[in-house]
Amino acid sequence: MAKTAKLVIEGQTYDLPVVTGSQGEMALDISTLRKRTGLITLDPGYANTGSCESSITFMNGEKGILRYRGIPIEQLAENSTFVETAYLLINAELPTRKELTRFSIMLNDHSLVHEDMLAFFENFPKRAHPMGILSSMVNSLRAFYPELPERTDEEEINITFARLLSKVRTLAAMSYKMSLGHKVVYPSHKMSYCANFLNMMFDSPVRPYKLDKDLVKALEVFWILHADHEQNCSTAAVRLVGSARVNLFAAISAGISALWGPLHGGANQAVLEMLQGIYDNGGDPAPFIRKAKDKKDPFRLMGFGHSVYKTYDPRARIMEKICKKILKKQKRKDPLLDIAKKLEEVALKDPYFVDHSLYPNVDFYSGIVMRAIGIPLDMFTVMFAIGRLPGWISQWKESIGDPKWKLHRPRQIYIGSKERNFVPIEDRG
Ligand code: ACO
Repeated sequence: MAKTAKLVIEGQTYDLPVVTGSQGEMALDISTLRKRTGLITLDPGYANTGSCESSITFMNGEKGILRYRGIPIEQLAENSTFVETAYLLINAELPTRKELTRFSIMLNDHSLVHEDMLAFFENFPKRAHPMGILSSMVNSLRAFYPELPERTDEEEINITFARLLSKVRTLAAMSYKMSLGHKVVYPSHKMSYCANFLNMMFDSPVRPYKLDKDLVKALEVFWILHADHEQNCSTAAVRLVGSARVNLFAAISAGISALWGPLHGGANQAVLEMLQGIYDNGGDPAPFIRKAKDKKDPFRLMGFGHSVYKTYDPRARIMEKICKKILKKQKRKDPLLDIAKKLEEVALKDPYFVDHSLYPNVDFYSGIVMRAIGIPLDMFTVMFAIGRLPGWISQWKESIGDPKWKLHRPRQIYIGSKERNFVPIEDRG
């Protein structure tokens, strides 16, 4: 029998349907609440609001579980590639060998960007942040590939997905090369998706780039870990903007802008800056921990805490392992890793962090991995954006096919002035 909850408002009882997910998670369906009672719910930040039903990603913040289409993140990080994981997220099943080959060929076929886009890059101010550039460039892609709204057959939609996945990676590497004033390196059909990116970033006529399989694997894992995270801020932005039935490029561009924020994807850059700050101040994390605990100080320990995880973020554990592995392989010590470990150790024993359930999140170690690969600091969040693309795309795809889908339009409780009259300027005190 369907479960219901009872809501009593001023003596009147209303039955609310209870929706149960495939993992036993329950929600009150309040979609008819206003019509029946005249009331809305108030939930700043939507932390208790389910905006959709989704079958893409499951996470349990109390137990530290993350699964894409049912498959644990640990298994995907160990055994999959980023391209295969992207296919899984978008198409709901792991590909057969033939499907994977076909998908890879599509990514290769659509990896070039229109040469006219180079002119856009050239005209950004030299100090423009790559996330602002990326968001603008992705929006501009729509002008070059306008088919999507006119043709909606599956093949065309799949081509648009491939275009985005492939071209965003090319655009990111191009922006880096152009920021150096170097000639861009084109994608090659001879390399995998991740290897291609590293080659486009670091190959040069005077210093050919030697691919290192461990760095390629580290990048695969980094992108797999970032590929989706259910209704996070940038994904919610993609779904919300997409709910206006805007084209996919514009919706993804909105997601990139949301991801840029330091409380979201921008945290990976902020963590490295914080660790560098601790290093520059002699290496003792204690003053930073004190600042983070001081309620009068807006400073937060970057890479700590998560809206959903109230335990160790499972991605952070994998990232830490990768981090140690590649530094060992490179026979390199990164002083920032030592500081990160010291900081983590102190914070995890501190009653403030324990009481607030603040643990390292994915960004805590990811910056050190990026540094070891050679990615410059201001490109860190761009790396996150490339990784999150399959998630944004699959969530957008799910949303446009959802029969219950509506234009997103939250309400509010108005707390401003009551009605009052306009006062002519000469009469205002
Ligand atoms: N350092 C110090 N205190 C913190 C931190 C932190 N990193 N994070 C949360 N708190 C404290 C808050 O001050 C607040 O304390 P109070 O209840 O005593 O006033 C309490 O914990 C709850 O904070 P909220 O902001 O309400 O918690 P929420 O779960 O919404 O925050 C967030 C999540 C935004 C990620 C937060 O933990 C944070 O700012 N972390 C640092 C930035 C960061 O690492 N972001 C990356 C997140 S992962 C990702 O987006 C990929």
